[in-house]
Amino acid sequence: MNFSAVTKQTNRGFLLLAIVFIVLSFVQCTPKHQVASSSQAGTKADHPDKGLKDYYKNYFPIGVAVSMASLHGPDSALIVKEFNSVTPENDMKMGPIHPSEDIYNWKNADKIVDFAVSHHIKIRGHNLCWHNQEAAWMFKGADGKPVTKELLLRRLKDHIFAVAGRYKGKIYAWDVVNEAVDDSDDTTQVYRKSNWYNICNGPDFIEAAFRYAHEADPQAKLYYNDYNSEHPVKREKIYKLLKKLIEDHVPIDGVGMQAHWKLYEPSPDELRKALDEVTSLGLKVQFTELDITIRLPQPKPAPGSTPPTPDPGYTPELEAKQIAQYKMAFDIFRQYKKFITSVTFWNVSDKYSWLDQRGGGLTGGVAAGENTPRTVRKAYPLLFNENLQRKNAYWSVVNF
Ligand code: G3I
Repeated sequence: MNFSAVTKQTNRGFLLLAIVFIVLSFVQCTPKHQVASSSQAGTKADHPDKGLKDYYKNYFPIGVAVSMASLHGPDSALIVKEFNSVTPENDMKMGPIHPSEDIYNWKNADKIVDFAVSHHIKIRGHNLCWHNQEAAWMFKGADGKPVTKELLLRRLKDHIFAVAGRYKGKIYAWDVVNEAVDDSDDTTQVYRKSNWYNICNGPDFIEAAFRYAHEADPQAKLYYNDYNSEHPVKREKIYKLLKKLIEDHVPIDGVGMQAHWKLYEPSPDELRKALDEVTSLGLKVQFTELDITIRLPQPKPAPGSTPPTPDPGYTPELEAKQIAQYKMAFDIFRQYKKFITSVTFWNVSDKYSWLDQRGGGLTGGVAAGENTPRTVRKAYPLLFNENLQRKNAYWSVVNF
């Protein structure tokens, strides 16, 4: 074979090898599972060891509301991997933890605290004073009639000293008062007419609760917690309350914006306006109960109307809207990281949400695992699906 022919053959051989090598190396680099959503394109892949808390370690802790059912099995592994803060969903509320004057149910609350402490997870206490799931006995005297303001405040003080005192040094932040602001569009009505408000004949119980909490645990960060805090009318009422507490030198560190949001609410401007107003008072912000339901407000069915078509569930169109809303929220959270000291999701995954509509007329509520009634319409509000897998919405939060 002449020499030049051999050389040509060899060059062709090398060229062929080079092409094969380039093609193979490209194929190897392509991730095994391409994802549907564009939100992952060209950014963080599914890193086996990292969770939300790691992606946000330079911003703020990422928390989750937990029930007894969350502390066992697959939920608990996901909590430890993804989160570095927990909030008891129900077990520290006045009614569940203090059902009668001489009885405290510490068992579940202690289990949640022990779980968090053993995994070096922060704990938010929820809550020390609320009009719902209340300890009904507190409002009644021995004669069954409403108690005096003095007796009610003494009972509130005993409750707060017992609960905040028990977890002193373990719970770093408390939702001291929950949802004390009126929900209506009546701008003259600032406060909710709860048993607390009616027996105290005004909002004095709010200041009292914060002062008792500060006495019980001077190190704990104290928050006022409420929902719809981005709605203009309610936002202004909450602002008025916070401004008065600060003017009266009440020990308060910040506001909890619950963030039970919808696909279109709040708008970016509403969210920024709420953040700007509260932080202008020198207060910190925690998003304390974040979920974004795919359910749009339903008009009441006309009497005798035919039942709605079968529930389409979590459709790609609704998923896309939820991804956009989660991305908007966390883009703004990161911009305000100087003021935001925690973001907590309310419930672990779409497997269970307080927003799920249940059989027997129960619309939401009822923590998982307590013979939870059959779910009839799910809300799909979180970042993990019913099998605890990361949804595409997860990547819209961590890809930045
Ligand atoms: O403990 C009883 C149980 O004995 C009974 O078998 C079961 C069924 O009737 O009910 C259980 O109590 C339920 C409780 O959750 C614990 O599971 C109540 O009915 C149910 O109303 C309650 O719902 C909770 C709701 O607060 C109460 O308003 C939800 O789980 C909880 O996610 C929700 O959380 C609140 C926050 O604390 C404050 N911000 C709003 C948020 C959503 O409402």
